[in-house]
Amino acid sequence: MRTHYCGQLTAKHIGQEITLTGWVHRRRDHGGVIFLDVRDVKGRVQVVFDPDREQSFATADKVRNEYVIAIKGLVRARPEGTVNSELATGAVEVLGKEIEVLNAAMTPPFPLDDYSPVGEDVRLKYRFLDLRRQEMQEKLVLRSRITTSIRRSLEQQGFLDIETPILTRATPEGARDYLVPSRTHQGEFFALPQSPQLFKQLLMVSGFDRYYQIARCFRDEDLRADRQPEFTQIDIETSFLDEEGVMQIAETMIRELFEQVLSVDLGQFPRMPFSEAMESYGSDKPDLRIPLKLVTVDDLMLAVDFKVFSAPAADAKGRVAALLLPGGAELSRKQIDDYTKFVGIYGAKGLAYIKVNDVSDLENGLQSPIVKFLGAEVCQQLIQRLGANNGDLIFFGADKTSVVNESLGALRCKLGADLDLYQSQWAPLWVVDFPMFEADEKGRLAALHHPFTAPSCSTSELQANAAGALSRAYDMVLNGTELGGGSVRIHDEKMQQVVFDLLGISSAEQEEKFGFLLNALRYGAPPHAGLAFGLDRLVMLMTGATSIREVIAFPKTQSAACVMTEAPGEVSNAQLQELHIRVRKPVAAE
Ligand code: AMO
Ligand code: AMP
Repeated sequence: MRTHYCGQLTAKHIGQEITLTGWVHRRRDHGGVIFLDVRDVKGRVQVVFDPDREQSFATADKVRNEYVIAIKGLVRARPEGTVNSELATGAVEVLGKEIEVLNAAMTPPFPLDDYSPVGEDVRLKYRFLDLRRQEMQEKLVLRSRITTSIRRSLEQQGFLDIETPILTRATPEGARDYLVPSRTHQGEFFALPQSPQLFKQLLMVSGFDRYYQIARCFRDEDLRADRQPEFTQIDIETSFLDEEGVMQIAETMIRELFEQVLSVDLGQFPRMPFSEAMESYGSDKPDLRIPLKLVTVDDLMLAVDFKVFSAPAADAKGRVAALLLPGGAELSRKQIDDYTKFVGIYGAKGLAYIKVNDVSDLENGLQSPIVKFLGAEVCQQLIQRLGANNGDLIFFGADKTSVVNESLGALRCKLGADLDLYQSQWAPLWVVDFPMFEADEKGRLAALHHPFTAPSCSTSELQANAAGALSRAYDMVLNGTELGGGSVRIHDEKMQQVVFDLLGISSAEQEEKFGFLLNALRYGAPPHAGLAFGLDRLVMLMTGATSIREVIAFPKTQSAACVMTEAPGEVSNAQLQELHIRVRKPVAAE
């Protein structure tokens, strides 16, 4: 239908007779001359209709925004003074000769401008229109370039793209499963994969050596800006490589991707043990763009006359930590009150602080609700340990270790954003040396990564000290977001059984749920390791989007629904009968 794309016309086309197709982006009537901005996937161009061509002029006069049209015309230079340097095609315009309306359009529910102050629910209901906006088109185009670049890089390194099932058994990655009832097996259910984890391991047992898949994963969990119930992983598994080998492949892939797509050199990724990440940043995904660090001060607070500090300092599960904010003495009372409310979200019961006005005068130079409890000696040591100078502010968190880490870790990121403390645009790193397990209140163990991750010790050492054991897992973190994670896997049946035992999975349950895996491990499983990246998160960071919903063509809302198709929806009684399902409706409140 067309000879050229609207967005690709440049000065080199001047003098050519062309045909364009696309949407009317904007129509302007300039006293006898009609201007149409016509848009297609490559961009927009201005088309001018003069009254001399009566019929075309009359049609151009009738079209409205978002009509689909075809135009024949002549490319010409824009008259002097009307060149638009903001538009890729801004040096030229098309003198319209013929125009055909291919389809009319109702008035869109919101303007399809670059910026449209419209609620996300409306955008999602009319997603097919929202996706016409330039900003959204650019994001999805970039997403496609990213997957192309990754596929090329992995194919070059000998990775095979192999599909794994969507209808499967539960794959434990720590979230709730999406279940699909079976019609042919009454009362039984498939689970949608939380990841292809077990299948990719089985492919290594089959000898494929290097597998990848751009794989859809399903997790029924609480949603946030960087979580969707259905999302995409760049999923990788390799045989005969250890953590070094896998991390190198993954790091090279991400570095090349940033170079190709954004012309950014990420450099060598530093590595940080999990323990250091928690201690200094309160998080296993530290945002290293921000220079602030948490400092443990338990030892200084043991004997102070302030229960709020001395109790957690003496408790093995408690922590007192300080966060130095250079120049922070300028914060107003209102700002400090707001930060106190902010840390409350994470369970902190308060946010003690010291404004350091004059380090040489500890009697009068410290402004704080708590110095009176601490005493000059402790204050002196605090100031030394933190390296505080005049004009700085020290925040404190004192509570259970998890509360202190979460609240001060979040405060650190909030201060970074509010006060623009970023020292670089990109800060990647690897977090390594994770614990194998985390214990709940009752001391029950859960896998920190997943139950197929190898420990960095022997079976007997693991059994002797499961809570203290480290795993061979690694996470890639970028700007405070966990971009990907993986591990060396267990390839020894005995070790896998020990880990299942420690997780409280009985032998019968092991055979019932994971018999196929244990069986595969008995038939010559090679040492293997892999990882998976969250593609949506990667695209979110690379496009500067604030939510992964912005880089997914048809995402779900915060309540895991699709407002456009109105999924999930009810089904007919006949379908339910076929599936042997009776739905119990919640009893209406009286
Ligand atoms: P993990 O559970 O860490 O590991 O997931 C890997 C990466 O997937 C992304 N991700 C998500 N993205 C969007 N929405 C979600 N709900 C969501 N959940 C996870 C994250 C995360 O880093 N099978 C293992 C990988 C392996 O061991 O090879 C796994 O799935 O970016
Ligand atoms: P209070 O004695 O409750 O008035 O608290 C004195 C100061 O300590 C206030 O600035 C509180 O915000 C702060 N504070 C109270 N509880 C905690 C806590 N668990 N961690 C850090 N600061 C706290």
